[in-house]
Amino acid sequence: KKVVLAYSGGLDTSAIIPWLKETYDDCEIVAFCADVGQGDAELEGLYDKAIASGASECYIVDLKEELVTDYIYPTIATGAIYEGTYLLGTSMARPIIAKAQVEVARKVGADAVCHGCTGKGNDQVRFEGCFAALAPDLKVIAPWREWEMVSREDLLDYLAERNIQTTASATKIYSRDANAWHISHEGGELEDPWNEPSKGVWTMTVAPEEAPNEPEYVAVEVEAGRITKVNGEALSPYNALMKLNSIAGAHGVGRIDITENRLVGMKSRGCYETPGGTVMFAALRAVEELVLDKSSREWREQIGAQMAHLVYDGRWFTPLCESLLGASEPLAKLVNGEVVIKLYKGQAQAVKKRSPNSLYSEAFATFGEDDVYNQKDAEGFIRLYSLASRIRALNTK
Ligand code: ARG
Ligand code: SIN
Repeated sequence: KKVVLAYSGGLDTSAIIPWLKETYDDCEIVAFCADVGQGDAELEGLYDKAIASGASECYIVDLKEELVTDYIYPTIATGAIYEGTYLLGTSMARPIIAKAQVEVARKVGADAVCHGCTGKGNDQVRFEGCFAALAPDLKVIAPWREWEMVSREDLLDYLAERNIQTTASATKIYSRDANAWHISHEGGELEDPWNEPSKGVWTMTVAPEEAPNEPEYVAVEVEAGRITKVNGEALSPYNALMKLNSIAGAHGVGRIDITENRLVGMKSRGCYETPGGTVMFAALRAVEELVLDKSSREWREQIGAQMAHLVYDGRWFTPLCESLLGASEPLAKLVNGEVVIKLYKGQAQAVKKRSPNSLYSEAFATFGEDDVYNQKDAEGFIRLYSLASRIRALNTK
């Protein structure tokens, strides 16, 4: 018996290691941690911690570039935004983590995978949906749905009884999930939507009211719906995101506060920060405005709406996902250009935009003379366009 555990070094997954051994017949535990850009603080000392907690091995896999290149960029090219504001930061990272976890399971010849998601959330569905698609033969263990422990105190007592060291404390106000794209904050006072989030919630951005009083302009180059340069510097997808995170975070850009519908039916309240991602969305949107005709834009929006649910609902490894991304790419290919974004007190506005594929023409849009648009043509167009209304009105007379 060998289990690969998605391990973060936090209290929950630390308690899971001894619990698995006791519950599943002294099985061997291989810890697995995905580096998706959650930051050095979370990864520091992780290997030693895993071994000290009783894991036989700990694999830390660097997925940072792949996350941005293969999951985030294709998704944002569709314009996917969940319930109006959520840029899907946690959701987009789940499939790549699950995939890498399955790869470790194969490598070490494990027969089970385990995660620390609760039985109330979306993440359990996402992980297990991916496991089902990639490795239906692996047994899935979800301790939160099995054990009787309910609080941090319970977990601390459990570890103390077994003499396992932990730096975790009994009081941790917020439940957080971080990666290169975003950080989520849930719990504590946020559980009541009547409470404004306190200052201590936010970690990636300064408060808009404390942001500089002078705006900052950031130039972004877009190729085929991907951000390729920031302020003239060619950067890898991950590095472009890092750079935009720090520039936009300093201006309080990318905070949202949402009461959302979870897949399992309940509502939850979360505060999310996506500074660089918010700038990327603004840049893509700006170029898109220049290059997509009305019907293409409308279709892109439909793809994005579908994609938002697909990603949120954990259906990444499906033919439907391939189909949506396949539909999006020909439109994304047109999204080339340059955008200047103005950052000021929490806002990111595209104030300059140009594209070699632009369909916008000052000459055609002005009220002067031009060769392609004859105003007399509009009369016939409108007559036919409104023909059904005319006939209905005549009939009901
Ligand atoms: N509600 C968001 C989502 O479903 C964020 C979840 C955060 N996950 C976590 N394990 N803290 O995508
Ligand atoms: C969890 O319940 O494990 C985190 C929140 C979520 O998955 O929605």
